[in-house]
Amino acid sequence: MKNEYIFDATPEHIEQGASIIQKGGLVVMPTETVYGLGASAYNAHAVARIFEAKNRPTFNPLISHISEIDFLSQYAETDERVIALAKYFWPGPLTFVLKRKDMSSSLDLACAGLPTVTVRMPKHPVALALIQAAGVPIVAPSANRSQTISPTTAEHVWQSLGTRVDMILDGGACSVGVESTIIDVTGKDIVILRPGGVSKEDLELFLHEPVLLSHGNPKLPSSPGQMLKHYAPSHALRINAIHPEADEFFIGFGEIGPEAHLNLSHSGDLNEAASHLFDYLHQADEQTVFPRIAIAPIPEVGLGLAINDRIRRAAYK
Ligand code: TXA
Ligand code: MG
Repeated sequence: MKNEYIFDATPEHIEQGASIIQKGGLVVMPTETVYGLGASAYNAHAVARIFEAKNRPTFNPLISHISEIDFLSQYAETDERVIALAKYFWPGPLTFVLKRKDMSSSLDLACAGLPTVTVRMPKHPVALALIQAAGVPIVAPSANRSQTISPTTAEHVWQSLGTRVDMILDGGACSVGVESTIIDVTGKDIVILRPGGVSKEDLELFLHEPVLLSHGNPKLPSSPGQMLKHYAPSHALRINAIHPEADEFFIGFGEIGPEAHLNLSHSGDLNEAASHLFDYLHQADEQTVFPRIAIAPIPEVGLGLAINDRIRRAAYK
């Protein structure tokens, strides 16, 4: 479905999007992880509109998306370790929580008044071109209403946010399919606040040191992405299912199972599974014949960590 809000991400439409961003509007952009609801990081009014459009319960800090690594050291306190990580994993699904350096008050809302700033460089030509053309960092949470399944197509965005945004740039389905890995690099140890598109194993392989995994306090989240109920479909979801019940729409993985309605990856490839996850949850949630969803067990390695994190939250009632 195309309409007056969804635009193919042509160079002309990207230019138009950039000018909307500069004027304080909201432009949805495709990234390699999920679609992001973008606004200028320095326009507090536009940032406030993001919270309103998403119906975020409180003002949560947003990720600033940049297109050039050099910008990072103007924005945040960096060190050799952070620069090395950024050079290796960017552009890509890795987000840093850093000590804030740019104290412009216009940036306060994007940072939710915290002494930290959260930054990533997305690996999607449309997102990079949009940021470049806008000439400002673009803050972008996932482009969905709060506590619903994240969007991996322009269609998902339209279904969730509709006319609350000014423009949706359609760049096709997101290739990674789960959100970025968020790491806190403000302390001595590196702590994963949210598992995502870069695996813990890949980080450790690069760093030659163990990376910690934050389990947070779900009641007092340091990262609201750590709240237990998040990414939730409206249908009840059962995890670690081997066989479906009669009223369940069954999402399989690998050999489990032949009776699945959809299979995240027949060959058991976790990257492929991540790229299908949110789309299949959207499809399962639209079923009228099956009021419940069941999902096969996913191994807790590589991107399996991010997938299991999302489906455990989706299953939480
Ligand atoms: O892949 C992604 O990261 C996508 C795409 C659009 O880039 N963005 C995304 O943003 O997932 P969002 O807002 O849906 O999730 C970011 C999470 C939120 O749970 C937020 O609370 C947390 O990151 N966060 C942001 N800044 C933080 C900070 N300074 N300290 C702790 N948590 C932070
Ligand atoms: Mg989100």
